[in-house]
Parts: sequence; C-alpha cells; structure tokens
Amino acid sequence: MSERTALVLGGTGMLKGCADELVAQGWRVVLPCRRPEGVLGSAATAALRGRGHVPRQRVAVAADWTRPDELADRVRAVVDGPADLLVAWVHASYREPVLRAVAPLLAPGAPVVEVHDSGAIQPVRGVSDPVLEGHPTQQVVLGFTRHGGGTRWLSHEEASVGVLEAVRRALDGRPPSVHQVGEVDTWVMRH
Ligand SMILES: NC(=O)c1ccc[n+]([C@@H]2O[C@H](COP(=O)([O-])OP(=O)(O)OC[C@H]3O[C@@H](n4cnc5c(N)ncnc54)[C@H](OP(=O)(O)O)[C@@H]3O)[C@@H](O)[C@H]2O)c1
Repeated sequence: MSERTALVLGGTGMLKGCADELVAQGWRVVLPCRRPEGVLGSAATAALRGRGHVPRQRVAVAADWTRPDELADRVRAVVDGPADLLVAWVHASYREPVLRAVAPLLAPGAPVVEVHDSGAIQPVRGVSDPVLEGHPTQQVVLGFTRHGGGTRWLSHEEASVGVLEAVRRALDGRPPSVHQVGEVDTWVMRH
C-alpha cells in the first residue's frame, strides 16, 4: 500500500504523542508549526532523505496560523499528493481560515478530526459545526480530569489517546460525531 499522508495542525505540543503514533502506524505526518527546528525528523530527515536512507515519515514545516494561505503553500511544497487525513488542534480564532486554506490539499472526502479546547465551546450553541463540508468530521472536546480533590488538564497522553480514538472513528468511516475526553461543563455540552 502506498504511504498515506496525514496533515496534523498543532501536532507538536500536547498532541505530539498522537503524531508519533500515526508515524508508528506508517503514516507520513506533516506538521506545520512555528518552531519546526525542535521536531525530530525535520532537518535531520530532510538531510537523510537526499541520501535515501530514511523514509520521510515526519515533516515539520515552518508556518503560522496567522498566515493561512502561506501555511497551505508551505505544506503543498512538501507533499507529493493529497492528504488522506487532517487532524486540527487550532485555536478557535484561527480555525476556520486555516482549515479552509488547507482544504484544497486534502483528498476528496478525506476525514477530518477537529480538536476543541472546552474553554472555546460557546455557551448555548455548544460545539460549532465542522468547518469543512465534504469531509466527514469527528470532533473532540478536551476537558479536564479530577485529581486529588481538585481538577487538572488532561495529560498529554490522555489528550493524544482521545484524539487517536477519534482518528480511528474517522478512518473507520463512522458518522460524524462529537466526543468529549475527560469532563467538560455538562450544561454547555447539553446545548
Ligand atoms: N483540555 C485540555 O486538556 C487542555 C486544553 C488546552 C491546553 N491544555 C494544556 O495547556 C498546555 C499548553 O497548551 P497549548 O494550547 O499551548 O497547546 P499545545 O498542544 O501544547 O501546543 C500548541 C500546538 O499548536 C502549535 N501552534 C500554536 N500556535 C501556532 C500558530 N500561531 N501557528 C502554527 N502553529 C501553532 C504549536 O507549535 P508551535 O508552538 O511550534 O507553533 C503546537 O504544535 C498543554 O500542554 C496542555 O497541558 C490542556
């Protein structure tokens, strides 16, 4: 089977484990971010690629959500064909322009996983509709967890596992859905 390409936006922070797992599963993972130099596989892999020693499995691309068209151009420059999966952990204020900019880089009908911070969920409306029509979208809301009598953010592993479960649903062709990982404000989620 030819190598599949996943575009993962925001995949070098707490979702790094998610990107790593996709690489382990054989995906070529493209990671636009502002600081690609720290991502294993960017410069090092590019250098080795020229000698044909290492498959180009993880490609970090310098790009910023504040310049969506430039971000898309930079991704376009490193991919050989359309992406088969989009995972988007993008701040709510940039989400729509960034997703619309990269949409032409996706294969027709390629699944999307949108990851939301529970703080970005709007009271009354709840989770916003998926940004991209024509791309079945699994949405994930990252909440908090109770710990030692208080609350804490999800660990990076907990967040990555939750997003990977959404990726699995997406690749299995499950109907679009919204899942929460951890706890969120249930009043907000009901609406
Ligand atoms: N519900 C939850 O569990 C939850 C929710 C939010 C935050 N947190 C906690 O808070 C910590 C910090 O969260 P965070 O929001 O900074 O997320 P993060 O996942 O740690 O990092 C954000 C990701 O987005 C990229 N990014 C950020 N701004 C960008 C921009 N303008 N253009 C392109 N890429 C950009 C970052 O790479 P570059 O920096 O290289 O651009 C990185 O890949 C997390 O580590 C987590 O522990 C938890």
